[in-house]
Amino acid sequence: MATITIEVEAPASNPRHTRLGRWVDEAAQMCKPDRVHWCDGSPEEYQAMLRLLVQTGTAIPLNEEKRPNSYLVRSDPADVARVEDQTFICSRTKEGAGPTNNWEDPAKMKQKLAGLFAGSMVGRTMYVVPYSMGPIGSPISKIGVEITDSPYVVVSMHIMSRVGSHVLDVLGEDGEFVRGLHSVGAPLAPNQPDSPWSCNAQQKYICHFPETREIWSYGSGYGGNALLGKKCHALRIASVQARDEGWMAEHMLILKLTSPSGQAKYMTGAFPSACGKTNLSMMIPTLPGWKVETIGDDIAWMKFGADGRLYAINPEYGFFGVAPGTSMKSNANAMLTINQNAIFTNCAMTPDGDVWWEGMTDHKPAKLIDWLRRVWTPESGRKAAHPNARFTAAAKQCPVIAPEWEDPKGVPIDAILFGGRRAGIVPLITEAFNWQHGTFLGATASSETTAAITGKEGRLRRDPMAMLPFCGYHMGDYFAHWLKMGVHSNASKLPKIFYVNWFRQNKKGEFLWPGYGENSRVLKWIFDRCDGKVHAKETPIGRTPEAADLDIKGLDIKNADLDELLSVDVEGWKAEVPSIKDHFAQFGAHLPRELNAEVQSLEQRLQAAK
Ligand code: GTP
Ligand code: SPV
Ligand code: MN
Repeated sequence: MATITIEVEAPASNPRHTRLGRWVDEAAQMCKPDRVHWCDGSPEEYQAMLRLLVQTGTAIPLNEEKRPNSYLVRSDPADVARVEDQTFICSRTKEGAGPTNNWEDPAKMKQKLAGLFAGSMVGRTMYVVPYSMGPIGSPISKIGVEITDSPYVVVSMHIMSRVGSHVLDVLGEDGEFVRGLHSVGAPLAPNQPDSPWSCNAQQKYICHFPETREIWSYGSGYGGNALLGKKCHALRIASVQARDEGWMAEHMLILKLTSPSGQAKYMTGAFPSACGKTNLSMMIPTLPGWKVETIGDDIAWMKFGADGRLYAINPEYGFFGVAPGTSMKSNANAMLTINQNAIFTNCAMTPDGDVWWEGMTDHKPAKLIDWLRRVWTPESGRKAAHPNARFTAAAKQCPVIAPEWEDPKGVPIDAILFGGRRAGIVPLITEAFNWQHGTFLGATASSETTAAITGKEGRLRRDPMAMLPFCGYHMGDYFAHWLKMGVHSNASKLPKIFYVNWFRQNKKGEFLWPGYGENSRVLKWIFDRCDGKVHAKETPIGRTPEAADLDIKGLDIKNADLDELLSVDVEGWKAEVPSIKDHFAQFGAHLPRELNAEVQSLEQRLQAAK
């Protein structure tokens, strides 16, 4: 087999930053790659990597007329989503990781990993990817370096983060950075051709060492397991840095909402994986005159400014969005974002060389190649795209990206939304009484799980602040950090906190609320609540809109359905209390007493309600 070479000249190493140079050398000695390539982040490098991916059969160029400069990649069926069971927080003590994380002693885990990484890159190229999470030069941004043997990871990181030599300039001679070591765990024997998707079907370990700001990821090439800037760095490691330094790293979209009179507010929203962040962040309001613009669709880093307000940046540079369900009807802005220069993973392919997934069009195509490379017809009786199929595209391609999305100082947040998928009980919208109660709403957030997590679809679980899989330390201490942030500032300057549920269903299992662009009706109420312009009803669980105050002009919805969406089912909530108590009990002495007090108050308010 002909050797595949990369046609881009790159520096052999970075002589300026001694620690970085030494770490890369050590990684190379351990992993034994055939060569080391320092990434410069250039468009030429991106194209060279894609040519390589096409040569190995990993990527298929899509029809240039339909989707210029775009590619389809299909993974191994053993590597399709985040592996929560194999994700570890290796803090010095087990208590440091808390009851909701897998833990292993750092020394023991390093020993195990050293065994796995030894020779893991034989026959491959080791890429060194310097990246910035957040605009370069922002006081909120952080730098990381990912070492990887996957060119798919390199091109994805090019889109998802700011990659390049300029990052090394910021790092200088001794700047701090997060170290991320990644291998697909599939060394190549001499003359063994590479497979279209390399991974280790037997062993995967996604490990975080919060004290030393290190990530070691082995065996998977997919999404959050492998693009280390995203969940591993920007949430698990960053949440620990945020705790230590007094800021917040959250699993949140950031949007800008402008009213018909031209007033703008910024909101963030924490919903679990595949629960509507990307959709909300770029939705087209059905309410006339209202406008939504995107700042970010997945992660927010937030810091208090000198004026006492909370400012958020999007640390990412692109979107890694759920493909199924995305259509011109549900999310036109996402569809337009991925019209060119996009990478699609585990989608189906049409006969004319474009991509397709469930929900993209009203009618299914007559014939496709499914994500498993098999011929598919509507009669096949199976899904053509994997439910966790994804698109990757630069944020700047989004037609409604806000002009200030890269503002280094961030945007001031007026409202924080929590939410999840709940078929019953949880109303369409609830406002917290105050920051502490809002923290309680976030801490008790619950959701039915989705295909974004391997092997766990459709189970109801508590997912505090949508951070259950992403908090890098003890969740009880994380709650305490939230409470501490609330006393950091004057209450009037804090964002108001809300809880939304777009997913309530009727007895037939149909959604009661149309969702998507119609969610603007709820955002309008939130907007007006922030200005104190609309009344709210006090209920035992929080404040809810009067039915007459939710703008439903032009919406075809039955009164009975709307009543159900806004109603507070007191008996149902009473039945939730024991599960909230069980959930809190696991945090032991780490649970802030303020949250216990909130459970008691909730119980009392429910008892008092008729
Ligand atoms: P991650 O990228 O995994 O973190 O997911 P996400 O939170 O960004 O979710 P996303 O916006 O991609 O939506 C996930 C799925 O939920 C898609 O299939 C959407 O079509 C669907 N969805 C999003 N918003 C709504 C909504 O308001 N109502 C309903 N019924 N479905 C929605
Ligand atoms: C999620 O699962 O929340 C995602 C996809 O956004 S991944 O990047 O794989 O974590
Ligand atoms: Mn998303």
